[in-house]
Order: sequence, then C-alpha cells, then structure tokens
Amino acid sequence: MFLLLQKYLRKRLRKNYIFILKNKMTDRRKIAVVGSSNTDLVVKAERMPEPGETILGGAFMMTAGGKGANQAVAVARMGGDVTFIARVGNDMFGNQSVEGYKKDGMDTSYIARDAQTPSGVALICVDKKGENSIVVASGANNRLCKNDIDAAKTKIEEADYLLMQLEVPMEVVEYAANIALASGTKVVLNPAPAATLSADLLKKLYLITPNRTESQLLTGIAVAGWEDAERAADILLSKGVENVVITLGALGALIKNKSLTERVPSKKVEVVDTTAAGDTFNGALCVALAEGKGLADAVQMATAASAIAITRMGAQASIPYRKEIE
Ligand code: RIB
Repeated sequence: MFLLLQKYLRKRLRKNYIFILKNKMTDRRKIAVVGSSNTDLVVKAERMPEPGETILGGAFMMTAGGKGANQAVAVARMGGDVTFIARVGNDMFGNQSVEGYKKDGMDTSYIARDAQTPSGVALICVDKKGENSIVVASGANNRLCKNDIDAAKTKIEEADYLLMQLEVPMEVVEYAANIALASGTKVVLNPAPAATLSADLLKKLYLITPNRTESQLLTGIAVAGWEDAERAADILLSKGVENVVITLGALGALIKNKSLTERVPSKKVEVVDTTAAGDTFNGALCVALAEGKGLADAVQMATAASAIAITRMGAQASIPYRKEIE
C-alpha cells in the first residue's frame, strides 16, 4: 500500500514538474514591435562620396533591414516572443523579408501587404571605419495605418513591451502608444531617425533610447560625452519619460532615471559595419527587461549584443543569437 502511494505521488510530482517546466518555456517574454521593413542595398567603400561625386566602391550586399524589422529580429534571436506589426509591398522584396522573419520565428500575421506601394528600400554606403550613410525610400512603410494597428490590438495589449522607432508615420506611433498604455504594456521608443516628439508622446514612454544626434534634436544639447548625455537625459526625464538610455557609440551607454545614473562602457571590438548596432541594442534591451533584469544589467546585455553586430557586415545578417552573447 505504502509503495503504491509512493509511486503515485512520484508520478504526480513528475507531472507537475513537467507542467511547470513547459509553462516556463512557453511563458516567453512577449514583445510587440511596430516599425519598418526594408531591403538594404549596401556598398562598402573606402570613404563616403562628396556631394556630386562618384566613387568606385567595393563589395555589394543585399540584405534584410529596416529599423523595425532589425529590432524585431534582434528580439527573436535573443529568445523573445515577438509579433512584428508592419507593412510591406506585394513584391519580391516584401516576400523575401517576410520569409526571413518566419525563419527567425517571428509572428508575421500582422504584416500588412500593400498592393499599391513597393516595399521599403535603403541605400547604404559603409566606409572603411564601418560608419554608414543611409537613404531610405520608405514605400509601404509610410502607409502603415491605424487600421493595421487595430488589427494587432490584442497582441499589443498582451505584450510586456511595445518597441517602436520612427520610420513609420508618427500618428501611427502615437496611436499604438495609446493602446499600449491603456493596457499596461510598457512603451519603448528608439527615436530613429531623429524627429521631434510631441510632449504627449514623451509622457507615455517607459523608456527612450536616443543616440547623440537624436538626443540633440530632442533636447538642444550637443552630446559629445558623458556629462552632456547626463544633461540631455535630465531634460528628457523632466518631460515625463520614465527611463532614458543614451547610446554614445564607441563610448558606451548612459542610463538615467529618478534614482539611477550609470555609465556602461562599450566593449572594444574590431568595427566592420555599424549598421543595425542600435537596432540590436534595442531588441536585446527589451528582451532583457522583459525577463525581469534591472536596467543596468539589461543595458550590459544589449551592449554585448550590439558589440557582436558591429563586427559583421549587414543589418539582419549581423544580429547575433542569444547563445553567442552568453
Ligand atoms: O538602422 C539600420 C537600418 O536603417 C537599416 O537596416 C536601413 O534599412 C534603415 O532602416
């Protein structure tokens, strides 16, 4: 009798353990990304051309890009459960991009197809120092609309974090932020490319992650080093943003909120191409935060991820997987 009871209890325990384990595995960090999807046409060159000048470059590469897509891919590769809300054309570039996102395990059900406008394209020149110059033909990204956001409303409401950038219309960014806020989803904004933001949107942000140029546009402070970054961060905090992380390229990243000021130095690596370094940073940062890491630890993880990305060519081609940073 006792043995039977022991066997029964052991079986129950094992069952419960498997249930907990399974739940843990499916309880992945939910992140919704609203943003752009581009195809990047990249040329490596010694230097950037001057206005009116033609120069002969080196290697050419065509790769999936777009700030939104890059950040969503970074979330997926860091182990996050990501829904990407975007708009692409009904064309070859759109098809290729969506295929790639599926391979990365992203939920692509909310990527709208635009019959009238081609998918976004970015022309990128990368110089020998790994710095880039980018021109984007927004195409379908510019036609992302409130209806597209409504279609994905439940996904935004269920998410832990909503991550956005500024390569899609501002009114759509603001609309999605409102939905997120109403349901307790935290809003993270990577304000790239640089644009002014409404006072109303700033108040809704859990976290903003500008680089030097974006910080200057948003605060009027020319950010050369840590002290400038601190002053710029203070201005953003005074406008109602809860947390600020200013990325300072080779220097590192500054974290500031009401109770914390921390400088996280960057990792020294050989720079090949900085494209998507910021996107990798943002994707990794959101996953780390959604996993419950503190801001400082999350920025450490994001810094490690973006350090790997800059040692490789291309946008999505350069974004690392979780095991690489661990
Ligand atoms: O942040 C890098 C990205 O900016 C590129 O992939 C390009 O498509 C542009 O959106």
